[in-house]
This record gives sequence, C-alpha cells and structure tokens, in this order.
Amino acid sequence: MGQTLRVNLDERSYDICIEHGCLSAIGSLLSPLKLGKRCVVITNEVVKQWYLEPVMKSLRDSGYTAESYILPDGEQTKSLSWLEQIFHKMLEMRLDRKSFVVALGGGVVGDLAGFAAASYMRGIPFVQVPTTLLSQVDSSVGGKTGVNLREGKNLIGAFYQPKRVIIDPKVLNTLDIRELRAGFSEVIKYGVIYDAGFFSFLEKNLSAVFQLEPDVIEYVIARSCAIKAEVVEQDEQESGLRAILNFGHTVGHALESITSYGTYVHGEAVAIGMITACTLGERVAGFSPDQSAQVRRLIERSGLPSRVPVGIPNEQIIEYMRRDKKVQDDTIRFVLPKRIGEVSVVGSVTISEIEFALDANR
Ligand SMILES: NC(=O)c1ccc[n+]([C@@H]2O[C@H](COP(=O)([O-])OP(=O)(O)OC[C@H]3O[C@@H](n4cnc5c(N)ncnc54)[C@H](O)[C@@H]3O)[C@@H](O)[C@H]2O)c1
Repeated sequence: MGQTLRVNLDERSYDICIEHGCLSAIGSLLSPLKLGKRCVVITNEVVKQWYLEPVMKSLRDSGYTAESYILPDGEQTKSLSWLEQIFHKMLEMRLDRKSFVVALGGGVVGDLAGFAAASYMRGIPFVQVPTTLLSQVDSSVGGKTGVNLREGKNLIGAFYQPKRVIIDPKVLNTLDIRELRAGFSEVIKYGVIYDAGFFSFLEKNLSAVFQLEPDVIEYVIARSCAIKAEVVEQDEQESGLRAILNFGHTVGHALESITSYGTYVHGEAVAIGMITACTLGERVAGFSPDQSAQVRRLIERSGLPSRVPVGIPNEQIIEYMRRDKKVQDDTIRFVLPKRIGEVSVVGSVTISEIEFALDANR
C-alpha cells in the first residue's frame, strides 16, 4: 500500500504522498526535498494531543530543528491577528528564508499556516500534513491559502503551492463522524463533476469508506486528490475550469452564511447545494432524473443533509447570491451536471428556475 501522486505545475510541482502510518516517517519523507534545517510545526490543541509528538520526533530524528506553535481549535484562528502571532513566533525562532513551515491539521490550520509561509519574508517553503478528510481530499491540494475578515471568509490570501503533501489516512480514526461525512461530501462532488466510475465505486463501497477500511479509504483519497490535481494543473488560478470544483457551493455558501456558520459544517451545506444543482441540471442541462435521484441517494445514505430548510425562504437565499454579486441581469452562473461524471458552467439560470429547484428540495 501507499502511493505518490504528482501535481504538475512547472517549477511549483510537488508530490502528494498517501500512506497509512506515514505521519511518523515525515522526517525521511521530507529529506529528498533539501529544505533548510529549521522549521515550525503549526497545529491546534485538538490535533496536538495525538499527532504532534510523532511528527516532532520524526523531524528531529531526521536532523531538523523543529519547534511547534499550537493554536486554539476553530475557524476564528484563520484571522489576521493569529497570523501576526505566528509571525512573531517565527521571528523568535529565527526562521530565515531557507526555513520551512509544516501545517499539521485540518483546512483551518492548512489555510492559515500556508498563508503564513506565503508571506513570511516574502515566502518560505511549506508542507501540508492534512488531518481531516476535507483537508486530505480538498484544501491541502491546489495552493489556496488565506485568512478571513469580519466582512467575509477567505478575503485575504494567496495562491501558494506546498512543497509536498503528506497524507496519513490513519489519522481519520480520531475524526468526528460529522467531520468525516462533511469531507465525504466533497468526495461525492468529485465523482459527479469528473468521474462516473469513481461515483459507482463510492456507491458500492460506502460502508467500507465509513469503516475506514485501509485500502478503500486510501483509494478514495488518492482518486480525489488526482481529480483535484488534474483540474488545478489546467487552471491554477481559477480563471476557468477550476470553477467546476464549486459544484454545490453556490447554494451551499448561501446556507452557511445565512445560518451564521452555526448550523451546517461546510460539507453539509454543499450536500444540499449539490442536490439543488442536480434539480437545476434536470431543468436546464439535460441531466436525467434517474441520475439526479442517484446523487440524492448517495448523499442521504452517507448521513448528509439533503433538504433545503423550510425556515429559510427562497428570497433570503437569492438575496445572499445578489450580495455575493453572483446575479447579473436576473440570471446566475451555476455549475450543473449534464450526466454523472460531467458538468458544465451555465451562465443564464433564471431566478424562477432557482426558486423551483429550492422548493423541489424542501
Ligand atoms: N484552501 C482550500 O482550497 C480550501 C478548500 C476547502 C475548504 N477550505 C477551508 O478549510 C477549512 C475547513 O477545514 P476542515 O473541514 O478540515 O475544518 P477544521 O480544520 O476546522 O477541522 C475540523 C475539526 O476537526 C478537528 N481535527 C482535525 N484533524 C483531526 C483528527 N485527525 N482527529 C480529530 N479531530 C481532528 C479540528 O481540530 C476541528 O475541530 C475552512 O476554513 C475552509 O475555508 C480551504
């Protein structure tokens, strides 16, 4: 078992290493990169309790001078004020331009630590060690880093690729089931937008996925990363194709924001968004009702929510999209499925079609 994928981005290319138990071999996995000797491992207090020690030991055994910086848990650390604290720590440690950052945690730690690396002394190398399913299949690959402002999420940031992504599927054993499901929502997304065979694999192996059967979960992570890498290779800075990764996110973001990020975790809101996009796909992109029902079934079997909450009126969701500047001349751009495995970006979905799709899924 164990596999390595390559993300081909010219001089910014890097490997994704996926293997059970590889966390405690991180030092030797980094040696070939010829990074400097000093590094800071940025993590949070939840992840720290299980995974910091083996990482520090492995780094030190391989000759690195490693120190750690522990954040509190939560999205609120993805902020300019925590970024500043990290910079002070990096200066105190005398990290120079040859030093590097290790991001050990979920997407919050990865986005924040990645942006710290992107901006410290105009950029030093960094390595992603994602520990949630969402970060293993999505946020650690592709180079989006950044922090939130009070005006909105991810408003400050940089495209900055890691030098390597090291994924140990074993760490998912400690992950909350709700977080596992939320990450799986993005996995379903890859099947719908890009790979019908992968979608069928997920349908057939669902219980093995949730039991974290080693060969199954490793394949699921690897195939997801490969799809994300293929898309990012063709459109690193989201000027076109990369938008297909936003399937389910238009309605998803609206629901997260309207509920003040307190009701849904991201993948749950995306699941409802994907189902709404499937209904829209039936209306305007020739998506078959049978395949639409198949997507809904997989989402529901995974324990993800599938219904637009009755308490949130259509007007509120559409008003969010308007403020988000997604609406132009009363039409909106949506990523819609044509068939399982293929989507298209449709620029002219009308408000009344969106209202129909929302109502159909309440
Ligand atoms: N950069 C990108 O391309 C990209 C893509 C998608 C999402 N994101 C960002 O990712 C963030 C969400 O990431 P997330 O879903 O990983 O959330 P998260 O980082 O908050 O992690 C979720 C929870 O799981 C805990 N945790 C992490 N690893 C664990 C483990 N192995 N065992 C037990 N608990 C563990 C965390 O401490 C946290 O409480 C958001 O800020 C989002 O904006 C970025």
